[in-house]
Amino acid sequence: MSALSVIVVGAGAIGRRHIKAVRQAGDTVTAVVDTDIVAAREAARPAGSVAQTSLAKTLADEDADVAVIATPSGQHLDQSVLAVRAGLDVLVEKPHRVPGEVAAGLRASLGGRRYFVAMTTRHWPGIEATAHAIADGSLGQILTYTDRMHFRLAETDLPPWYFDATLSGGGVLLTNGVHAIDRARALVGPGLELDGARLVRVFPSHRCEDSAEIQLRNHTGIPVHLSLLWSPYASGNTGLTVNGTRGSAVVHMDGSWQLITGQEEQCGPAIEPDEPFARQWQAFKASRSGFDLEDLEPTLGLVERIYRRYTYA
Ligand SMILES: NC(=O)c1ccc[n+]([C@@H]2O[C@H](COP(=O)([O-])OP(=O)(O)OC[C@H]3O[C@@H](n4cnc5c(N)ncnc54)[C@H](O)[C@@H]3O)[C@@H](O)[C@H]2O)c1
Repeated sequence: MSALSVIVVGAGAIGRRHIKAVRQAGDTVTAVVDTDIVAAREAARPAGSVAQTSLAKTLADEDADVAVIATPSGQHLDQSVLAVRAGLDVLVEKPHRVPGEVAAGLRASLGGRRYFVAMTTRHWPGIEATAHAIADGSLGQILTYTDRMHFRLAETDLPPWYFDATLSGGGVLLTNGVHAIDRARALVGPGLELDGARLVRVFPSHRCEDSAEIQLRNHTGIPVHLSLLWSPYASGNTGLTVNGTRGSAVVHMDGSWQLITGQEEQCGPAIEPDEPFARQWQAFKASRSGFDLEDLEPTLGLVERIYRRYTYA
């Protein structure tokens, strides 16, 4: 396959990881778009790309194959539609839309274009190993499934838009919960029933929930517990734990993992943060199944159901 030319939209922490992944694969970042021209220029310089502040102008000026969208979450759907209508394939950060938005216009515009939602944590080696072990039965009957994403945060640890639901679409349930729900759907789903939830704001200044405790159930009755937390006091014990009648799997939040079954014991080290973005770019180029609009829409549907039923205190 010849090298792809790519427009990266959003030159923040995550956009810069995508730029590295694209370049590492031998593809070209043609342009970096950021409303903050200084950020666009800084990210564009090492890649030898053009720096722009407007996606519409860049789409008109540049002849590119793919747009990678890594802006604040509330902008993903509109920017996806712009890029797809300009004839580009799209790799969009999660979530691909925020609660209340509908993907019908995007779906209608897709044609044959590839549309891939960035679910980086599914490209962690430990998650892939756990998925295989569940699918091939080596863990036996699944007894418990618990996924804890707990982050110790100070007020300024993330850009402020993350904590304003009018810009981000939601708090910890949307930003981190889409990963946890996506993993649960991929590992023990795809269908999950909602048994209960509790959303709480921890930081008085935030305009979103910082804590979400979610209880789900898969079609065979496996209880799925998701625990999501942004707190200045968050303590350890994070990651995914699956216990079965014949084995267990643990994947920590740094990506390190351990899988124990009757036959063997496997483990892997913490992963370097750029690695899942590189693996994801390869999966995008190979059009690996499981990451397109129809795969990810039910995850957003579940997030929306939780927000409808449980408002935060
Ligand atoms: N896949 C993962 O593991 C993962 C991890 C963290 C965050 N994310 C997601 O990545 C996305 C970006 O997060 P981030 O931490 O890099 O945020 P960030 O605030 O660091 O970066 C966003 C950038 O977008 C720019 N921007 C804002 N509006 C724009 C517009 N209209 N056009 C062009 N640029 C614009 C901002 O100036 C900023 O530089 C979010 O959707 C977030 O949920 C994904």
